[in-house]
Amino acid sequence: MKAPVHIAVTGAAGQISYSLLFRLANGDLLGRDQPVVLRLLETPESLSSLPGVEMELRDCAFPLLSDVVKTADPYLAFHEVDIAFLLGAKARGQGQERKDLLQVNAEIFALQGRALSRAAKHTVKVLVTGNPANTNALIALSNATELTAANFSAMTRLDHNRAVGLLAERCMCSSADIVRMTIWGNHSANQYPDLAYAEVRGVPALDRVGRAWFQEVFIPTVQNRGSAVLSARGRSSAASAANAALAQMRNWLFGTGESDWVSMAVLSHGEYGVAPGVMFSFPVTIDDRRVKVVQSLELDQHARERLALSERELLAERDMVAHLL
Ligand code: NAD
Ligand code: LMR
Repeated sequence: MKAPVHIAVTGAAGQISYSLLFRLANGDLLGRDQPVVLRLLETPESLSSLPGVEMELRDCAFPLLSDVVKTADPYLAFHEVDIAFLLGAKARGQGQERKDLLQVNAEIFALQGRALSRAAKHTVKVLVTGNPANTNALIALSNATELTAANFSAMTRLDHNRAVGLLAERCMCSSADIVRMTIWGNHSANQYPDLAYAEVRGVPALDRVGRAWFQEVFIPTVQNRGSAVLSARGRSSAASAANAALAQMRNWLFGTGESDWVSMAVLSHGEYGVAPGVMFSFPVTIDDRRVKVVQSLELDQHARERLALSERELLAERDMVAHLL
């Protein structure tokens, strides 16, 4: 039997976690031969909800679940972890934008960045989902002085999957027929879901759907899908968010393969003219756990303007939390 892999999940009593934990324990991330220890972090006030979650996990009798640790101490939660899902943060309500959460959530990521730096393995992969995800990831990374940018990403995989799902529906094909989808920028209504390089069964997506549908339907639908789910459900997305977190982490650990790329928010080093030092979603390939931004894609004027909008928003968010960086 392999030694168990330690996985931290913050916000463990929350709704995304309620979907994610069971899939982690089932082997959906690391495979059916890899035992896991789930290290659950909650606030002191919500810690009392975790025994119920643990009971349900144990009642599934997952063969791969070695142990469950429940704590309100981030240093204990992150002790020697290989993988961390940072879900724990306030979610927005109707009428709010994700960046409205920055003031309430930012401190969480400063503290957790410090704790990860001290307690986690230096190879840890930290996926930030709590909103506003890009800037929270920047805060965590800036406070994790013993770790590097390669340890951190923010989640734009849900946007990527939404874009693939919408295009598949429009083209009446399977999501597996679609390659080279791209989400650029911030996980916000200013993200740029881009079809310029996407293909559907080898045919350019724009030839299949036309520019009018791309601009008038596709872009705003993907950009505003989080709000649409929130108003339809009365709560923000949860199962699809957990699924996206798993997919992003799985690609990070096991690679993307040669023939396709995925979207992931990583620290910008000036790629595509984006200001260095913000967490920006790019098309990336991953090999041997190393993330590479896809280079040399041509961007037309429309795309450049869209990227600039996201960049400005991320720079403004960064200014708002300058004291924590
Ligand atoms: P939720 O309110 O159901 O759960 C959040 C949990 O986090 C709560 O149990 C809360 O007690 C806990 N928490 C708060 N502060 C914490 C801290 N310091 N340490 C540990 N736990 C803490 O929310 P949810 O629906 O699970 O969503 C979680 C976050 O993910 C929200 O910020 C939401 O906006 C965001 N989200 C992001 C995406 C994305 O695509 N990036 C998608 C969906 C949701
Ligand atoms: C989403 O995209 O579903 C999440 O970021 C939750 C939200 O507030 O929209």
